[in-house]
Amino acid sequence: MPCGSDFSRLQGNIYLIKVKKYSGLLRSLVMKNIVLTSALIASAMIAAPTFAAPAKLAVCAACHGQDGNSPIPGYPTLAGKDKAYLVEQLNAFKNDTRADAVIPNNMNNQAKALSDADIDELSAHFSAQAPK
Ligand code: HEC
Repeated sequence: MPCGSDFSRLQGNIYLIKVKKYSGLLRSLVMKNIVLTSALIASAMIAAPTFAAPAKLAVCAACHGQDGNSPIPGYPTLAGKDKAYLVEQLNAFKNDTRADAVIPNNMNNQAKALSDADIDELSAHFSAQAPK
């Protein structure tokens, strides 16, 4: 067997190894991109609801303002108050350990209509607003 053809077969094998190596690299890059892209889409989908207004906001807005700055004198402003504080107060109204001192039973009835998820969502919304 002539030396030249052995050499070219060897070169061919090296070429094949290189092609395999690079296509593997290419595949892993494509895979990484797919993983990255789906991670971005997934995080955008998870993040989306936080930009939407809470489902029950309209009820509260009548007295506390859409942005938690109450339009009615004597009604508390909720904007910028600590989220944990708001959650605690709503739960206190809900289980009657806090009585509404301004409009008898109003906040107790309001809170009783809220689920834990509503309380969490509304408290997060109001605490994120700027007090005026
Ligand atoms: C009809 C008017 C009215 C509506 C509707 C209303 N609130 Fe209130 N809310 C009040 C008043 C008045 C108080 C003050 C009660 C008190 O001090 O005893 C209050 C108190 C609160 C407090 C306690 C604030 C603090 O600083 O301790 C929270 C929290 C609250 N409301 C959240 C809500 C949420 C959430 C909703 C909607 C589901 C809502 N309110 C709907 C009138 C209203």
